[in-house]
Amino acid sequence: MREHVNKSLTSAVAWIDERFPLTANWKAHLSEYYAPKNFNFWYYFGSLALLVLVIQILTGIFLTMNYKPDAGMAFASVEYIMRDVSWGWLIRYMHSTGASMFFVVVYLHMFRGLLYGSHRNPRELIWLFGVGIFLCLMGEAFFGYLLPWGQMSYWGAQVIINLFNSIPFIGPDISLWIRGDYTIADATLNRFFAFHVIALPLVLLGLVVAHIIALHEVGSNNPDGVEIKKHKDPKTHIPLDGIPFHPYYTVKDIVGVVVFLIVFSCVIFFAPEMGGYFLEANNFIPANPMVTPPHIAPVWYFTPYYSILRAVPPLFNSQFPGVVAMGASVLIFAALPWLDRSPVKSIRYRGGLYKRWLTVFVVSFLVLGYLGTEPTTVWGTFDKHVILLGGADRATVVARFCTAAYFLFFILMPWYTRIDKTKPVPERVTS
Ligand code: HEM
Repeated sequence: MREHVNKSLTSAVAWIDERFPLTANWKAHLSEYYAPKNFNFWYYFGSLALLVLVIQILTGIFLTMNYKPDAGMAFASVEYIMRDVSWGWLIRYMHSTGASMFFVVVYLHMFRGLLYGSHRNPRELIWLFGVGIFLCLMGEAFFGYLLPWGQMSYWGAQVIINLFNSIPFIGPDISLWIRGDYTIADATLNRFFAFHVIALPLVLLGLVVAHIIALHEVGSNNPDGVEIKKHKDPKTHIPLDGIPFHPYYTVKDIVGVVVFLIVFSCVIFFAPEMGGYFLEANNFIPANPMVTPPHIAPVWYFTPYYSILRAVPPLFNSQFPGVVAMGASVLIFAALPWLDRSPVKSIRYRGGLYKRWLTVFVVSFLVLGYLGTEPTTVWGTFDKHVILLGGADRATVVARFCTAAYFLFFILMPWYTRIDKTKPVPERVTS
């Protein structure tokens, strides 16, 4: 019986292989794709990002079956999903929690790049596709947030779209064009829905495929930052420090998936709003164009950039400099492969300068992130008699320092990575 089943399977695969390169692709990307044997904790987040992408697409499909992209019905349709649709609450919480977890995972995935120099030659394109993915993800989150048509959806979109007003000459026309109406209205909701459910997911999927094709072309980096392709077995041409992705890393990644799903479930079942960080209280109130909430803040994953926007002082009453700084703070990631001039890739062999600057960057990012969730008056105001700062909000002054540190990490990188004292890099990976 077993022999018969095996025989049928083999001939079915042979039949497919004659028409489609199934086995060839399985080998090229899994069973004979050799990854460095020293991957560590930080290497879980690529596969976890793939997992969250799948979760978001699947739950998104089921939400779309009951959601109504109509300004008169959107809020009620989300309530209907939460209360009346079978398992609707679970699908919705998976999607809302998934959005935040996507950013957690992607931020850690990007940080791994900074630790081990994954953005460096020959992986610049993997990194650039990654930056494209990041921008697309931000767009997805922004468009998706309008859909529940709550107070925060409405006023958050209002703040962001109004930023375009500050562009000289053409700004107000651009805002009008984005909204499709003189205020945020049904037309805006409809187009945001179209972007959220089809346009951006298609781009995102395309970019993720390109990201992985580029990765498999050059091969993975690793915590030592040495190229495993330099040392191959002379007979088999297999990298000496490589192990087949399947079964070694498929099994290792399952461990990451299980731990992730435990954390994910804890959030969904015990704290789906996460104290207002994942779902804001104001968004349980229907959108009301006549009532502005007293404190408008974006969801946590946007707050570092929002802080940068607020930290830059206006020029001639225009917020344009802040808008430019906010855009630059995201786009500057794309320049990283060319800003980093260190002779070594991994932090293990870099000197103290890079380590210190990376710490400064991470601390500034976190402080900016925190300040973005709070009103600028959260730490009070400097006394009138404090020279230069008299009357300024303390949080704004701190945000200015952090903004400067954030940008200096990138701007000074060509300098400090070149003069940094590095350690000798081993020829082969260490375990
Ligand atoms: C939907 C989002 C993303 C998905 C699904 C994804 C997926 C992956 C996967 C599966 C890997 C290989 C496994 C690993 O190295 O962890 C990888 C590697 C990589 N990703 Fe991403 N990624 C995403 C976003 C990003 C972003 C936003 C960046 C950077 C801006 C980025 C930069 C990189 C780099 C540089 C590598 C090579 C790492 C190395 O070899 O050390 N990725 N990605």
